[in-house]
Amino acid sequence: MYGLVNRAIQQMVTTHHGEEAWQRIKDRADLQDIDFFSTYQAYPDDVTHRLVAAATEELGLTDDQIMQAFGEYWITYTASEGYEQLLESTGETLPEFLDHLDNLHARAAVTFPDLQPPSFRCEHSADASMQLEYRSKRRGLAPMVTGLLHGLGKRFHTPLEVDQIAFRDRGDATDLFQVRLCPDSDSVAALPDDGTKSE
Ligand code: HEM
Repeated sequence: MYGLVNRAIQQMVTTHHGEEAWQRIKDRADLQDIDFFSTYQAYPDDVTHRLVAAATEELGLTDDQIMQAFGEYWITYTASEGYEQLLESTGETLPEFLDHLDNLHARAAVTFPDLQPPSFRCEHSADASMQLEYRSKRRGLAPMVTGLLHGLGKRFHTPLEVDQIAFRDRGDATDLFQVRLCPDSDSVAALPDDGTKSE
């Protein structure tokens, strides 16, 4: 994957855990020979997978936890790295944005010519829920999509719930996510912890 991805991992780790943690992760991933990742250089996917695996060991987190955190981080990271306008022009609302994800990556491919982008298809239901289908030539990145959706929810100030309901890793044809928008989140927050309403 392009260096932009590995740089984002680096920045996420150093911001939350410090420079030394990053150096330990890079050593553990056997990448000590790489001084820095170039944004526009395409690296083997294995480099990214090794960084994630080393981060799980170093930080004591699961693969899913790291990938979800990374997905969420990716939204603010790309915005701060010069892609804010690309994000802005992809949609004014979250549902509109999700309809245009392939278009976003098609436009990113102008800057990243060897991009091997994921592909998404969004189906909308009348009850403000959506099903997002995720396809990729890569395996194991579905947890990142859950994080991406949470990051987009924050970007659009749209509280949401995400459930993965089909898993390619478990033999399903694709990875499928149920996304529910929660416009009434204030009243949800006001409920007692057990979720019951008092009369
Ligand atoms: C302007 C913002 C964005 C830019 C510049 C961007 C660019 C990229 C780049 C360079 C890669 C690495 C792929 C490669 O090197 O072949 C990537 C991967 C990916 N992107 Fe984006 N992206 C953006 C926003 C998003 C958003 C909003 C989503 C939300 C769903 C998304 C989903 C993904 C996923 C899931 C991958 C992992 C690769 C895979 O699944 O095969 N990206 N993107």
